[in-house]
Amino acid sequence: MNRIIGIITMTLNLIILVRDTREPTCSQLAILTDELIQADKIKFVIVDFEFTMINRKDLLLVSGSMSNSLDKYKPVKLEGKPIVLTTTNKLKMLQNREVKKVMQRVGRIFRNKPELLLLLLGQLEASLKLKGGTILSTTYINQYLHTDNRIPVIVFWNGTTDKEILQKLGLNRKMLNITSYSDNNNNYFNLKLLEISGSTSKLLYSSRIGYQEKNGYYKMPI
Ligand SMILES: *[C@@H]1O[C@H](CO)[C@@H](O)[C@H](O)[C@H]1NC(C)=O
Ligand SMILES: *[C@@H]1O[C@H](CO)[C@@H](O)[C@H](O)[C@H]1NC(C)=O
Repeated sequence: MNRIIGIITMTLNLIILVRDTREPTCSQLAILTDELIQADKIKFVIVDFEFTMINRKDLLLVSGSMSNSLDKYKPVKLEGKPIVLTTTNKLKMLQNREVKKVMQRVGRIFRNKPELLLLLLGQLEASLKLKGGTILSTTYINQYLHTDNRIPVIVFWNGTTDKEILQKLGLNRKMLNITSYSDNNNNYFNLKLLEISGSTSKLLYSSRIGYQEKNGYYKMPI
């Protein structure tokens, strides 16, 4: 665990360096973490899925991006036919006749967030049009996680549904959650690293990153 804390400390330094405290990009995190794990048997894979609910209970996985040190830190986009993850953890292909309904529903969910709506609809259309047999399936994602002999440790930025998606896909791996919140609701924000592999989460590291003023302006610690 000391090693992980070392990695996180470095990550924090990088984040502060790039002044991107709210949401570090996949590549920023990957570049930093990689320096510390060159010699290690583990690699960090940063995972971010695009998804939407398609009815009251089922999730539609639309695309994802992952980055790890093997791919020169570049986030790799995972594209394939969208897949429906049901509450009973079944995986289903999205049927053509369901598409229109899904689009309408997505339109309702994101009616106040036009940028997100456009992004998701665009991605959904692109995925549906994809030629070839790629499906956003367990096998496909698993291949990416295990491109070498290193053990993947999955890192989310504030991920809740991302974890659920991986579990529904049957990909239970060691998982970490990087998040930032104010402990006492006093606008002093802490960056936190939580181990979330099991059903409870364990705080590994916490560090103050700054104060957010009412106007949204972010002050870095000195
Ligand atoms: C990760 O952290 C965020 C922010 O605290 C939290 O909302 C989310 O539930 C956490 N994810 C998991 C899977 O514990
Ligand atoms: C984390 O996610 C929660 C719930 O989705 C959101 O309210 C919060 O603003 C997010 N925090 C960060 C630091 O992205």
